[in-house]
Amino acid sequence: MISNQLINYSELRLASRVGKPRQWSGTDQRRGFQVTVLDADQEGQASTGFVPVRLVIVGTGGIGRLHAELAATIAEVELVGLCSLDDDAGALARSLSVPLVGDYHDVLEMEPEAVIVATPNDTHREIGGFFVGAGIGTLVEKPIAESIQAARELCDIAVAAGVPMLVGHHRRYNNRVQAAREFVSAKIGRLVATNTLVTMRKPDSYYHVEWRRREGAGPLLVNLIHEVDLLRAVCGEIESVQAASAKLGRDFDFDDTAVMLAHFAGGALGTLILSESTPSPWSWEASVSDGMGFHNAGQDHARFIGTEASLSFPSLTVWQYGADDPDPGWNSPLLASRLTVDQHSAYGQRPGPGAASPSRRRTPQNPYVEQLAHLARVVRGLEDPLVPGDEGLRSLAVVDAVILAARTCDIVRVDDLLT
Ligand SMILES: NC(=O)c1ccc[n+]([C@@H]2O[C@H](COP(=O)([O-])OP(=O)(O)OC[C@H]3O[C@@H](n4cnc5c(N)ncnc54)[C@H](O)[C@@H]3O)[C@@H](O)[C@H]2O)c1
Repeated sequence: MISNQLINYSELRLASRVGKPRQWSGTDQRRGFQVTVLDADQEGQASTGFVPVRLVIVGTGGIGRLHAELAATIAEVELVGLCSLDDDAGALARSLSVPLVGDYHDVLEMEPEAVIVATPNDTHREIGGFFVGAGIGTLVEKPIAESIQAARELCDIAVAAGVPMLVGHHRRYNNRVQAAREFVSAKIGRLVATNTLVTMRKPDSYYHVEWRRREGAGPLLVNLIHEVDLLRAVCGEIESVQAASAKLGRDFDFDDTAVMLAHFAGGALGTLILSESTPSPWSWEASVSDGMGFHNAGQDHARFIGTEASLSFPSLTVWQYGADDPDPGWNSPLLASRLTVDQHSAYGQRPGPGAASPSRRRTPQNPYVEQLAHLARVVRGLEDPLVPGDEGLRSLAVVDAVILAARTCDIVRVDDLLT
C-alpha cells in the first residue's frame, strides 16, 4: 500500500491549457467524417493544433499500466497523473514523470479532463460514478460493472451529469473487426451462423491477484464479455441465449468453461466455447494478440457464415463460389480470398525532439491506442462515444443472460434482464 504523495500541481499544469478545443486533423475512417488540419500550434503544445486532453489513469495493474505507457506515446493525450494502490506504482509514475496518488478522490487535484478507470470490476460503479459525477469524461474498463444494477446506476449518473462515458471494449477499434462488420452486413448474404472459440490458458500467476478469484470476476465477466461485445458489433443484437457452464479446470468460485448458443435479432444462430484452462491456438488472444504480450499462434478462431459467403477471422479469409458458377454448391470449387484492411493507425504519435509535427498513419494499428485517441476526441466534442455506457450495459446483460441460462437450462431473453 502506498501513501498519498502530495504534489505541486501548479508545476504540472500546462501554462497554455485552454478550455476551448481546437480543430482536429485528418479523416476519421470509423465514423466517416473529415475535419480540417490546422497549422502547427504557436504555443508548441500539440503541433496539430489539438490541445492534448489531460488524462489520469486510475489503476496501474495489468491493463492500467498498458494504458499509461501507451498514453505517453501519443499526441492526443497528456498523461498528468496516476492513481493506484500498488506497491510498484511509484516506479511506474517516476518512469513516466507523472505524480501518483493512492486515494482516487485526490485525482481531482490533478485537474483531469479525462479519466480511465482500470480497477477491479466491482469498483467501477463507485470510482467511475465519482468521476462522471464530477463532470469528467471517463472510460470505464470492461465489464462496465459487476452487475446490471450497478451498470445502470453508472449510466444514470453519466446521463444526469451530461458527461461522456465510454466502456473499454477496445476490440471495436480494431480495423479487422470493422472489416468483418462491413462484410457481414453487406457481402455475406444472409448471416446464418457464427462460431467462436475462446479456448486458452491463463497462466497460474494471473490468479495471484486476489480480486480475479472473487465472484464478480471470472472468465465470463472478464473474457466472455469481450466476445459478446465483438459478436454484437459484427453480427447485430443478441436477443436470447441458451448456455451450459462447468468447473473443469481450476477450483475457484466460478465456472471456467462455458458454451453459449446465441439467437441474433436477424435470425442467425451463434455458438461459442469458452475455456481458460486449455492450451490452444483458438482465441482472440492467440490470433489477434492486441499488443498485450500474448503469444500469437496465427490461427483463425471465429467464423461468420452466410448464404453468399463465409468469413474466417481474423485472417479475413472469404470463402465463396465463383460468380459465374451455374450451380454453386458442394460439387463446385470454393474460392478463397482475403479482405485487405489498412493496418496503420489514425492517431498522432507524440513528436520526438526536433520533429515538426506528429507522424500519422505510419504506425501499426493498436486498438488500445485508437481507443485512447478516441477518448480524447470525445472529450473535445469531436466524436460521439463508439462504445457508450448503454452498449457496455447491453453486453453485460448478455453475459448475465448466459450465466442465468446455464443455471436454469432455460432460454433467457436479454431484454427480460433489462426491464
Ligand atoms: N480491455 C482489456 O483488454 C482489459 C484487459 C485486462 C483487464 N481489463 C479490465 O480492467 C480492470 C482491471 O483489470 P486488471 O487485470 O488490470 O486488474 P489488476 O488487479 O491487475 O489492477 C487493478 C488496479 O486497480 C488498483 N485499484 C484497486 N482498487 C483501487 C482503488 N480503490 N483506488 C485506486 N486504485 C485501485 C490496484 O492498485 C491496481 O493497480 C478489470 O475491470 C478488467 O476486467 C480490461
